Amino acid sequence: MPNKPHTVSARKSGPLNGKVRAPGDKSISHRSLIFGAMAEGTTTVTGLLEGEDIMSTANAMRAFGADITRAANGTWTVVGVGKDGLQTPDAPVDCGNAGTGVRLIMGAAAGYALTATFTGDASLTSRPMNRILHPLRDMGVTYKAAEGGRLPVNLSSGGDLKPISYTPPHASAQVKSAILLAALNTEGVTEVIETTPTRDHSENMLRAFGVTVNTRKISLPGMTEGDSISVKGPAKLTATKIDVPGDPSSAAFPIVAALITPGSDVVVENVMMNPTRTGLFECLTEMGAYLRADNFRKSGGEVIADFHVRYSKLRGIVVPPHRAASMIDEYPILAVAAAYADGVTIMDEIGELRVKESDRISATMALLIENGVDATELKNGMRVRGGAVAGGATVKTHHDHRIAMSALVLGLAAANAVSIDDAAMIATSFPNFFEMMRGLGAEISE
Ligand code: S3P
Repeated sequence: MPNKPHTVSARKSGPLNGKVRAPGDKSISHRSLIFGAMAEGTTTVTGLLEGEDIMSTANAMRAFGADITRAANGTWTVVGVGKDGLQTPDAPVDCGNAGTGVRLIMGAAAGYALTATFTGDASLTSRPMNRILHPLRDMGVTYKAAEGGRLPVNLSSGGDLKPISYTPPHASAQVKSAILLAALNTEGVTEVIETTPTRDHSENMLRAFGVTVNTRKISLPGMTEGDSISVKGPAKLTATKIDVPGDPSSAAFPIVAALITPGSDVVVENVMMNPTRTGLFECLTEMGAYLRADNFRKSGGEVIADFHVRYSKLRGIVVPPHRAASMIDEYPILAVAAAYADGVTIMDEIGELRVKESDRISATMALLIENGVDATELKNGMRVRGGAVAGGATVKTHHDHRIAMSALVLGLAAANAVSIDDAAMIATSFPNFFEMMRGLGAEISE
C-alpha cells in the first residue's frame, strides 16, 4: 500500500559525513521484472529497487501470468510465462505512479493476443500515452484511451502485429523500449531510429536474455547522424541472472546535498556510470564540484563506481541541450545546486520535463522562487541565479518524488527550514531516502 500523505521539513545542517550506497536503479529494476516475466524459465534478480513503482510493476506482471516472489535474503525470482505468452488480466492493471512501468508493459502486452486495461494514480493518469499508443496502433493494436490519450487505456491485440520503422518525435527510452518489446513477438524486423541517444538499458538487457539487438549508426536527412536499433521477431527471451546496479538518479540527492552543505565529505558507492545516464555529473564537475569517481568495476553488465564528494564553491553554467537525455530526471536537483552557485545557470530545451511525474519546470521554479531564489521560468527551460537561499516555504510536490527530494535538499543549507506538503511519493524511487540522509547528518524531521 502507498504511504499516507505526510509533510516533512529539512533545515540547515552541519557537515554531512559518511559512506552510503546508492539504491538499485529504477529503470533496470522495472526492466528486470518485465523481461523476466516474458522469458522462458526462472530469472533471479539481486539488488532490485524495492520502491513502490517497482512493486506496481511486479503486481502488473503477476496479473499477466508471471510468478514473482522475494526470498528472505532479498533475491527476487521471476518465473516467466515463456511459450504460453502474457495472458489477459482479470482486472484493470494499476501501475501506480510509474510511467516507465505502464509504457513498457503496454509495449510488452501488445505482442500477445489479449485485452488489458491500464490505469494509475493522479500523476500517471495525467501523463501522455499517445507517444506509445500511436506507434503500437501502427503495428496493429487497437485501444481506447481517456481524453488526450491519457489513462485509463484499454488495449487489445490479436497478437499478430506487423513490423514498423519508427522515429520517435521526442528523445524517449520508454518509447524505444515499448516498441522493441512489442517487436519481440512480431514477425519481421522492427526498427526504432533515434536522433538523440537515450538510455540503452533495454538493448543491454534484451541481449542478456539472449535476444539479438542490432544497433548501427545511420545518416539522417540534414547530414546528422542517428542510431538505428532493431529486433527481428519472433525472438525468444531466455531467463537469466540480473544484478541491478545503483541508480545515478538517486545518488544525485546525497551528492548535491554534500556539495551545498558546508564542510561535507561523503562517499556514495555503487553508482552506475552508463554514459547515457551521467550528464548531471558532467554538469556538476563543470560547476567546480569536488566529485571524484573511482573503484570502477562491473555489475549486472554495467560499469559502476564510487563517488567521493566534498562541499564545493559552485559556479553557474549553461547546460548544453544535447546533454538533456543523459540527465533528464536530474534537472530539479541540478537547479537546487544552481541555487547555491555563484552566477547564473541556464537549462534550456528541456520541454519534456513538463510531462514527467509533474510539470517539473514549473514545479522546480515554484520550489526555488517561494524559497527566495532568483529564478525565471523559460518557455522550455529554467534560469537560476545562485546565492544565499532564504528558505521558509512549504513546497507543493504534485505527487512527484524528485520534486520532494530536491526541496528537502534545498533546505539543508537554507537560512530557514524548507518543508514539503507530502513526502509519501519519495518511496516510489528511494524508500530509504530519510534513513540515508539522516545517517549522513541531514536534519530532516517530520
Ligand atoms: C526512463 C526513461 C525516461 C526517464 C524515466 C525512466 C526509462 O523517460 O525520465 O524516469 O526507464 O526508460 P522518457 O522515456 O519519457 O524520456
